[in-house]
Amino acid sequence: MSGAIALQFEDWESAWATATSGWHNWHLSHVNTNLKDNIEFLTDGKKACKILVPFCGKTLDLLWLVENGHHAIGVELIQKAVDDFFQENKISFKVKTVDGYQCFEAFDGKLTIFVGDYFKLSSLLIGGKVDGIWDCNALGALVPNDWDRHLKTSLELLDPSHGRILIQAFLYDDKAHPEGPPCSVSEEELKRRLGSEYEVELLSKRSDEVARKRFRFELSWLYVCLTGIKRKLSA
Ligand SMILES: C[S@@+](CC[C@H](N)C(=O)[O-])C[C@H]1O[C@@H](n2cnc3c(N)ncnc32)[C@H](O)[C@@H]1O
Repeated sequence: MSGAIALQFEDWESAWATATSGWHNWHLSHVNTNLKDNIEFLTDGKKACKILVPFCGKTLDLLWLVENGHHAIGVELIQKAVDDFFQENKISFKVKTVDGYQCFEAFDGKLTIFVGDYFKLSSLLIGGKVDGIWDCNALGALVPNDWDRHLKTSLELLDPSHGRILIQAFLYDDKAHPEGPPCSVSEEELKRRLGSEYEVELLSKRSDEVARKRFRFELSWLYVCLTGIKRKLSA
């Protein structure tokens, strides 16, 4: 994957300006079934959890989390995505500026979205550590050179005693196609980076023909993989 080139702020900005076409069209018009089907893993069966959604775009998963009694905290770099989220879902909100982030709040504080760079977020800013992180096409939106920084940021925001992470990412033949992002994320690679302290478990793997055909480079195969991460009991 050494040929992968990191996307810059301007790339994401123009991606959101053309977000309904081609490979930019990652937004789902429904709640992600991987989240619904694996919420027990993410929350460890607990109610009223604080769930962080990095690189959230305008995902409907935020609303589903709130509807299911959790506090959802989204983080998104591009203002337009967040404007679209509130407008399209007809949600009223309050907005304030905190530490350089535009901070949008709705549903009596049960939904918070920060507009800004995920890597600069602190647990102080989000009111303490989170119980779970729903990392949907966030890690894979970065090039592998940035993955350790991303994982470090997430682990610093996660409650070390019980916090869990769900990572949804594409898996494809990256030797033939090194042009990501989106980059291919394998279970082995996650185990290599996290395996000494964390249990890394592949929870589901399904072929996705629609996504494969939408990629801007030709792929012979592509899977959507869901990986669960939790701290090893001995760590
Ligand atoms: C592939 S999209 C995934 C969006 C969403 N998670 C979903 O599944 O619909 C990646 C998103 O990350 C945002 N992003 C990129 N770099 C970011 C950063 N450093 N901090 C926060 N968001 C970022 C982009 O603007 C884009 O909306």
